[in-house]
Amino acid sequence: MPLYIKSLSGEAIQPYIADLARLRIEIFRDYPYLYDGDETYENNYLQNYAASPDSFIVIAFDDDKVVGAATAMPLYRASEEVQRPFLAQNIPLEQIFYLGESVLQQQYRGQGIGVKFFEEREAYARSNNANYAVFCAVERPLIHPRRPIDYVSLDKFWYKRGYQKRAELHTAFTWKEIDEAKPSEKPMIFWMKRFR
Ligand SMILES: CC(C)(COP(=O)(O)OP(=O)(O)OC[C@H]1O[C@@H](n2cnc3c(N)ncnc32)[C@H](O)[C@@H]1OP(=O)(O)O)[C@@H](O)C(=O)NCCC(=O)NCCS
Repeated sequence: MPLYIKSLSGEAIQPYIADLARLRIEIFRDYPYLYDGDETYENNYLQNYAASPDSFIVIAFDDDKVVGAATAMPLYRASEEVQRPFLAQNIPLEQIFYLGESVLQQQYRGQGIGVKFFEEREAYARSNNANYAVFCAVERPLIHPRRPIDYVSLDKFWYKRGYQKRAELHTAFTWKEIDEAKPSEKPMIFWMKRFR
């Protein structure tokens, strides 16, 4: 069976929470996130997400196997560190949808699933009367010991989807990196797209 996607919202997400945690731990281990997966962190983060009635997930399946996922929720439901830069700039949260992670196993990349992840989440955001979509990405120095030589940043892909990098909208997420003894803050920069 070919690769296919399915979109779900609200309670229908619940059965896929464990898959999402598994994919996050597997895929964010790579540069630039270097996340040393933590079940407690995943449970806390994903419970907030699962509890929101307007949370949204796009899931990529290979047959019945979950191989990728992308999430979204209204910004006012997102965590304090996600909302912080918008509140600091007096940008009303109500018109904005927050796109969480997009994660797809390596062997399924380059077939257009990442584009579909954006299309589906943006359609859901628009149907919920959002005027903007935002997401954030970790900011790494140009020279980093863990950066693979063949690493290609996703910036071009994001510009092509209509997003602008908004350096003034920044925050910090805390996680433990694979080379760290304990969690530390990582700088996160937002990207934003206006729908109308
Ligand atoms: C983000 C991600 C889901 C995109 O998935 P994807 O299915 O490979 O994306 P697409 O196939 O839709 O391609 C996106 C673009 O990259 C190019 N591309 C991606 N992978 C490619 C590959 N292996 N070979 C050639 N081109 C590739 C595509 O041509 C496309 O460019 P276009 O917009 O000019 O057409 C995937 O790269 C991923 O899981 N990355 C790791 C996690 C991450 O960093 N997520 C983002 C932050 S949460």
